[in-house]
Amino acid sequence: MSNTSKIVLITGATAGIGRMTALHLAKLGHHVIATGRKVSELAKLEEEAGGLGYKLDTLVLDVTSAPSIATAVDEVARLTNGHGLDVLINNAGFGILGPTSEIDDSEMHRQYETNVFGLMNVTRAFLPRMQQRRGGRIINVSSVGGRITLPFFGVYNSTKYAVESLSDALRYELRPFGIDVALIEPGVIRTNFESTAVSGLEAFASTPYAGAVAKYEEMSKMADRFASNPIVIAKAIARAVKARRASARYVAPRSTYMILWMSSLLPTFVWDWAMRKVGFLSTQTVDPSKVGAARATVPGGPRSPSASHTPATEARAPSN
Ligand SMILES: NC(=O)c1ccc[n+]([C@@H]2O[C@H](COP(=O)([O-])OP(=O)(O)OC[C@H]3O[C@@H](n4cnc5c(N)ncnc54)[C@H](OP(=O)(O)O)[C@@H]3O)[C@@H](O)[C@H]2O)c1
Repeated sequence: MSNTSKIVLITGATAGIGRMTALHLAKLGHHVIATGRKVSELAKLEEEAGGLGYKLDTLVLDVTSAPSIATAVDEVARLTNGHGLDVLINNAGFGILGPTSEIDDSEMHRQYETNVFGLMNVTRAFLPRMQQRRGGRIINVSSVGGRITLPFFGVYNSTKYAVESLSDALRYELRPFGIDVALIEPGVIRTNFESTAVSGLEAFASTPYAGAVAKYEEMSKMADRFASNPIVIAKAIARAVKARRASARYVAPRSTYMILWMSSLLPTFVWDWAMRKVGFLSTQTVDPSKVGAARATVPGGPRSPSASHTPATEARAPSN
């Protein structure tokens, strides 16, 4: 392994940004440990990387499961002869879309358990070896939605705001150990993220927001045309891995800066007007007669109680 080659673990590497990043970092010569819940997807990834001659190992890791995290720590010690990680990339995450006041506790918990508590538990598990070695890097995949809030993404955006704040604090506190903490802030990227986000939106058909949500769903399908390839995020992460001192934030693609710039310059009342337009929120699209109506249950959808509490062992089984 060359001096610039790092031992990198990435969570949520079975799809989207995580998968692309795992292959890209392995291509650059890093020893990648790609982790995820779906055994079949991990096997496919390992086979693809092997065929290309990359050094890529895979491990099962559900970031919401303490036993799964503990096993992964032991496995990493074995794979690295006790060295541990040079770089931890916390990428696993998802968002579900819906009117913020209509999303119930179990759904909020599910998002926080993965995006916030999962990220912190994985970090705590791998941190001691970095602290003992006085070196390492933690790269947290946040979102431009960790800096601005979109209509119907309130719960998801709040998890990313939490990631931003936790990462800022970790950056101050881990610097004395020689550990850098960087945030990756993707804009709209073409992955499974959007289909997961809109799945089960029918649950809100009986709420006052039904009309607005339906129009928003239509618009979000068209927005896919403007989405970027996940390679732009893989390259931003590669820059964060390679930098002598990592920057605090990497925004990608570059066009995403525009919306951050607008949100910082526009007066709140103008910004709010624009966000209401984006969410089709007006007196014509909300229906007060539906206030208090029971929410529909979507069988098998991400909002159904069984899916909300999928045990880690089930989640690990191949599911597609
Ligand atoms: N795509 C975008 O536009 C966008 C924009 C900003 C930020 N992001 C962030 O980028 C990250 C990656 O998302 P993506 O766009 O690549 O979406 P994706 O294609 O849906 O991939 C998400 C990955 O996270 C994994 N994951 C979810 N829950 C997990 C858990 N409990 N344990 C381990 N892995 C888990 C998924 O595995 P399963 O298949 O097993 O669920 C999958 O591998 C997320 O943190 C997301 O919030 C995405």
